[in-house]
Amino acid sequence: MADRERKVTDKEKTAGTGKVKLIPVYVMGKRYLVPETLTIMKALEYAGYRFIRGCGCRGGICGACATVYRKPGDYHIRVGLACQTVVEPDMYLTQIPFYPANRASYDFAQLSDSPEEIFKLYPEVFRCIACNSCTKACPMDVQVMDVISAVKQGNIERAATLSFSCIQCGLCVSRCMGELPQYHIMQLARRIYGSRIAPRAEHLNEAVEAAKGEKCQQALEKLMKSDIKQLREIYQSREIEPEMAGEDWTPAKRDDL
Ligand code: FES
Repeated sequence: MADRERKVTDKEKTAGTGKVKLIPVYVMGKRYLVPETLTIMKALEYAGYRFIRGCGCRGGICGACATVYRKPGDYHIRVGLACQTVVEPDMYLTQIPFYPANRASYDFAQLSDSPEEIFKLYPEVFRCIACNSCTKACPMDVQVMDVISAVKQGNIERAATLSFSCIQCGLCVSRCMGELPQYHIMQLARRIYGSRIAPRAEHLNEAVEAAKGEKCQQALEKLMKSDIKQLREIYQSREIEPEMAGEDWTPAKRDDL
């Protein structure tokens, strides 16, 4: 985040933007007036900051925008994603888009499906004192402490399943008294589970085989022979999943694929 402050004009202070009220927030100790409806990320931009790091998807998925803040009269340190958390009056905040965490180096091809692999690479997993601070810090409601317990019990499947929504923001690490790198440990558990333990998806094998078949090859050749205009037409006329499609939505069967 690069600091490119600008002064909030009197007009903005009195008139706001339309009917939106301006509220004060403090960014690294400096006061700014920002519209009360903005997320922290948009408020920072409104205040004149430009993101060169600490911002990615803007949709609560990439985990790049971890933020810590305090509210007036409240001793708690609070954490959240800047792109998802709405500003509050007199919020005191700063971003921690990167938090140092021990990341083991390994050749994944050499790892087996044994939990011992995780224990060897991350022995600090046994430093967990089950305080649950990691879970409280998680913006995705991952039950981080339970994941770590599952790892300690050697249950990689449970660890992988429980941590599926982890977005690697690192907020769990920032609160851990045992100094565990939870998000790296959880990622390794998911990798081992996905690659070595989860049953193979039959439909995936079928799709791979179908892709090698004549029908797909012909469709591919047709695409390769198309010019830009034809490619655009094909792209624009493609079947798109409706925005509100339910889980049962399936694409129409096409003869050319
Ligand atoms: S910018 Fe991606 S989670 Fe906030």
